[in-house]
Amino acid sequence: MKKYWLLIWAVVVATSGCLKGQDDPVFPSPDLTIPQDENVTLQSALPFPIGAAVNNGLIRSRAPYRDVVIKEFNSLTAENAMKFSQLHPAENTYTWTEADFLVEFARQNNKRVHGHTLIWYKNPPSWVMNYQGDAAAWDRLLKNHIQTVISHFKGKVVSWDVVNEAIAENGTLRDCIWLQKLGPEYISKSFIYAHEADPDALLFYNDYGHEYGPTKRNGILKLVNDLKAQGVPIHGIGLQMHTRYNMADKNIADAINTAAATGLKVHIAEVEISMNPDNIQDLTYSAGLAAQQKAKYEFLVRTFNAIPKNQQFGITTWNVGDSDSWIRGEYNRPDWPLPFDDNYNRKAAYQGILDGVK
Ligand code: XIL
Repeated sequence: MKKYWLLIWAVVVATSGCLKGQDDPVFPSPDLTIPQDENVTLQSALPFPIGAAVNNGLIRSRAPYRDVVIKEFNSLTAENAMKFSQLHPAENTYTWTEADFLVEFARQNNKRVHGHTLIWYKNPPSWVMNYQGDAAAWDRLLKNHIQTVISHFKGKVVSWDVVNEAIAENGTLRDCIWLQKLGPEYISKSFIYAHEADPDALLFYNDYGHEYGPTKRNGILKLVNDLKAQGVPIHGIGLQMHTRYNMADKNIADAINTAAATGLKVHIAEVEISMNPDNIQDLTYSAGLAAQQKAKYEFLVRTFNAIPKNQQFGITTWNVGDSDSWIRGEYNRPDWPLPFDDNYNRKAAYQGILDGVK
């Protein structure tokens, strides 16, 4: 009798496994991981800083996440904790706890901290949106925010995205509260105020879409070149590189090489490589897709590694494992954009990053 039960159990297990393999969308990630070599880590293998955007909640609650951050990366960016709304939710209130936690975690584990971000069209809190004041009052508001934040982290945060995403898709300045209240000079003022508060900090202009094509890219390049020509203290250009597996290599190379041609430091600041840009709800992450993702990460790293050494600020991935990525929530779709899978195992993409410097 016992034997029969065992047989039935075996059949049920075998068929359910089979059905799962065929019919279920594989989401979260299937096991398409590469063997773990304990002697190799990203930070030990790469000749430039390698960072991750991190989420404090995950550092606190998920040991494998924390372990991978400590082991693999040597630079950290706060995914959200240093944005305007998070740090400065009311006119006379600054909330440092979360950002301080991250900075302390970085200090204990010997990681560089890149600050993200001081001025961004998307993130002003409602008190800023409703603020009443003349141009001088808006100027003071901008200056106070930037200088209070930079001074708080002086000596602990080596670099800042001073202004984020100021250029629209058509290459002109994006309409935003800062442009409306202060005119185009809000950008140069932001850099000047930041530099006054910490002359040692490296100051970046950060944006996405350099790889889309010349229209937006030329707008970004004109902005940073004009700032340089005016003697504004700007030291780096951040390419977010929220990109996709089928982005042409040429576009990625043009993005990186034109940024390097400015002479500024280059930060690939928020990279992930989406595998489902068409939002297919039942897409399966396959070995074929994993191989394409690996090739794209490898190309990106190879291209970055070829720019002059003193301009290589580093490459930062936008979070760590596939399930941590903002992409799934932002676009409400299955996706697997990062070098680690949902369980923090190394994917082929990880090997692609290593191969990019061979
Ligand atoms: C995103 C975060 O990943 C999300 O958690 C948050 O809800 C919205 O912002 N460009 C940027 C980043 O400069 O700050 C954004 O981060 C992603 C796009």
